[in-house]
Amino acid sequence: MITTKRQTLAQVMVCLGCCCGRVDKGKPAVPSDWLKAEWKRRRLLKHVHLTIAGCLGPCEIANVVTIVVPEGTLWFGGISGSRFFEELLVWASASAAAGRLAPLPESFEPHRFERYAVATSAAVLQEGSAA
Ligand code: FES
Repeated sequence: MITTKRQTLAQVMVCLGCCCGRVDKGKPAVPSDWLKAEWKRRRLLKHVHLTIAGCLGPCEIANVVTIVVPEGTLWFGGISGSRFFEELLVWASASAAAGRLAPLPESFEPHRFERYAVATSAAVLQEGSAA
């Protein structure tokens, strides 16, 4: 196992792929430039890393955002408007200030979905490394 000096509390991936954010395809906009600028201005990257990503897969529920935390990955979709992204910024700022993950906004819950057909866990990685 290798280590990194750039450990964070979480990593947020905002999809800006073939469908998410593509207003020319009738999808809601993703305020990626604003989000990147605010993330940088608030110096959040060392605490909650932000990645503007290519297609994450489930395009039919664009716009898609994932939040990767030590316990796993949370998937959110069907995001339109700026509110989700504003609350994401507030959450990341609160987490950075506290040095630990703040509770996610309750307003995120209706956007959550299961990405995988079968639940996985860290045990899978441990089983795989034992082979
Ligand atoms: S473009 Fe966002 S999930 Fe495919």
